[in-house]
Amino acid sequence: MATAVGSVGADAGDSVGGGADSGTEYERAFDAAVAADERIEPRDWMPDAYRATLVRQIAQHAHSEIIGMQPEANWITRAPSLRRKAILMAKVQDEAGHGLYLYSAAETLGTGRDELLDKLHSGRQKYSSIFNYPTLTWADVGAIGWLVDGAAITNQVPLCRCSYGPYARAMVRICKEESFHQRQGYELLLALSRGTPEQHAMAQDAVDRWWWPSLMMFGPPDDESQHSAQSMAWKIKRHSNDELRQRFVDICVPQAESLGLTLPDPDLRWNEERGHHDFGPIDWTEFRNVLKGDGPCNEERLTRRRRAHEEGAWVRESAAAYAAKHTPGETGAIRA
Ligand code: 3HC
Repeated sequence: MATAVGSVGADAGDSVGGGADSGTEYERAFDAAVAADERIEPRDWMPDAYRATLVRQIAQHAHSEIIGMQPEANWITRAPSLRRKAILMAKVQDEAGHGLYLYSAAETLGTGRDELLDKLHSGRQKYSSIFNYPTLTWADVGAIGWLVDGAAITNQVPLCRCSYGPYARAMVRICKEESFHQRQGYELLLALSRGTPEQHAMAQDAVDRWWWPSLMMFGPPDDESQHSAQSMAWKIKRHSNDELRQRFVDICVPQAESLGLTLPDPDLRWNEERGHHDFGPIDWTEFRNVLKGDGPCNEERLTRRRRAHEEGAWVRESAAAYAAKHTPGETGAIRA
């Protein structure tokens, strides 16, 4: 964004939060930058509500990445071959990395990782509904890759053009890695689908269980989405929840055919007039229950996350002690 109008310098502290006086001129510059598809950068002025919306969305996204490590990590020790184990370990590590980029993006908005993790652990911030479902068989690793990572890519590719620079740039790398994740899931399911009848049945069962929760990942229907209109006006989101959900369904139908698997929806059919697939009703009661904390694994996921955080305290303390030791003191010398 043009620094002349909107940049927040050291002497413009009040306007960081969008103080009333500064609002008009800065706000015009902000609106113009968004309209011109320029990126808003951390030191630019931005409305308080824009900042809060970004922190909310980026935090939820970051939490999803690290909680999402759990269902798949469940299968690392039971992967059927060394090759599959190595791939799965790399994927789960990637998700940790995505969390790191996203917490860092939130930090550029003035909200630290400690605060966000505290909100996750105390249930004040959400993570994606999808990670509250169990991974019952090895085929679930494939279904997560194909469907969950596929839904994530559909949602996140447009975020590479998000108006907030650090979030958009983080998404570029995340999407590249998510594409690899999606392909490994597809390849895993293809191997099972073409395997023994038992393996084929296992793949079909996983797709049957993950299909509907994957459609819920895109959020409530447009007429119930409280944030979409404003987020789209700010060009944080580029498409509505329903548009992205429809795009995902249209992508998945031919892929399911190639996999030799069916999608568990008797109403799924091509609609010539709309140029899209029609699909059956989503169980929004189930979605709301999962969001409320009553999904199959909500309790387990949060308990495990809190425990991992407590058990990792010594790592954080050691890193802080190391950093303090290697920070130049008043004399500029590195302390021994
Ligand atoms: N799970 C949990 N909460 C959800 C949700 C879901 N699937 N969908 C919507 N919600 C929540 C919203 O956060 C909001 O609650 P809040 O006000 O407390 O934050 C409420 O439901 C209303 O939804 P809206 O449609 O108004 O909210 P948004 O405009 O923020 O849209 C979203 C929801 C599409 C999820 C959007 O936030 C988004 O695009 N987020 C970035 C991507 C993301 O978070 N992805 C997580 C997926 S998993 C992942 O990426 C990990 C990968 O490894 C697979």
